[in-house]
Amino acid sequence: MLERFSKWKANLTAADLPDHQVEEGNLPQHVAIIMDGNGRWAKKKGLPRIAGHREGMKVVTKIVRTSSDIGIEVLTLYAFSTENWKRPKKEVDYLLGLPERYLSAELPKLIKNNVQVRLMGTTEHLPDHTLKAVEKAIKDTKHNTGMILNFALNYGSRFEMLEAVKSIGKQIERGELKADTLTEEHIHAQLMTSQLKDPDLLIRTSGEIRLSNFMLWQLAYSEFWFSDILWPDFKEKDFLEAIAVYQKRKRRYGGV
Ligand code: IPE
Ligand code: IPE
Ligand code: MG
Repeated sequence: MLERFSKWKANLTAADLPDHQVEEGNLPQHVAIIMDGNGRWAKKKGLPRIAGHREGMKVVTKIVRTSSDIGIEVLTLYAFSTENWKRPKKEVDYLLGLPERYLSAELPKLIKNNVQVRLMGTTEHLPDHTLKAVEKAIKDTKHNTGMILNFALNYGSRFEMLEAVKSIGKQIERGELKADTLTEEHIHAQLMTSQLKDPDLLIRTSGEIRLSNFMLWQLAYSEFWFSDILWPDFKEKDFLEAIAVYQKRKRRYGGV
C-alpha cells in the first residue's frame, strides 16, 4: 500500500496538493461520504437540479480513482437515501439512473484498478435496470482484491437497524439465541456492514451538519469532516485535505 502511495504522490504537482500534507502511514482505512449539495449547485447556476447530479457523478469518478490510488481500503458513498423517495419522480428517476450510467462508463476501469463493488441498502422498489447494472458490477468485480467501493443506495440507517432487530428477534424465537446473551457483535453481524470495519472518516459536503440517517451505528467513533463546498465543486485536493486533517486528529475512544 505504501508503495502505491509514493507512486501516486510522485505524479502530483504542487497545485494538486492540499494545504496540509497527507502522510504515508495512518491513512483512514474506511472513508464514508455524504455527497450533498448537487441541487444547490445547479440552482446557483440557473440549471435544473438534475444537472447538479450529472456534475456530481463526475466528481464520484475522480474521488473513487484518487481513493483507490492512495490506498484507501473501503470507500462508502451515500448515493440515495430511503428518504430521497420524497423527491419529485423525475428527480428520483434520474438519481436511480446514475449507478447504471456511472458503471457503464467506469466498470472497465474499476476492474482494471482491482476495485471491488458492493451495494448497501434495500433492493426493494429499486428499478430493475439499476439493480441489474449494480449486480453485474458486483459479479464482475467480486474477485478483485483492491479497494472496496461500497454504494449506499436506497440506504437508511434506521431501516438497517430495524431489519437487524427483526432478524435477531427471529433467532430468539427459534431458540437459537437468548436475549440476555446478546452482544454488540450480534448486532454488528446483522448490519449491512457486517463485512466491513467502521468508517474512520466521515465527510459531508454542502455545509449541512447532520447525518441524515447515515450509518448511525457505524459512525459511533468516526472522525467527522464537514465542508461548505457543494459536491459538484469538490476536488481531489479537498478530499486530500480532509484526509490530512483526519491524520492530525487524536482518536481516544473514551480513553486518555
Ligand atoms: C445530494 O445532493 C444528492 C442526493 C441527495 C442524492 P442534493 O440533491 O441533496 O442537493 P441539495 O442538498 O438539494 O443541494
Ligand atoms: C443525504 O442528503 C442523502 C444523500 C446524500 C444520498 P439529503 O440532501 O437527502 O439530506 P437532507 O434532506 O438535507 O437531510
Ligand atoms: Mg441535499
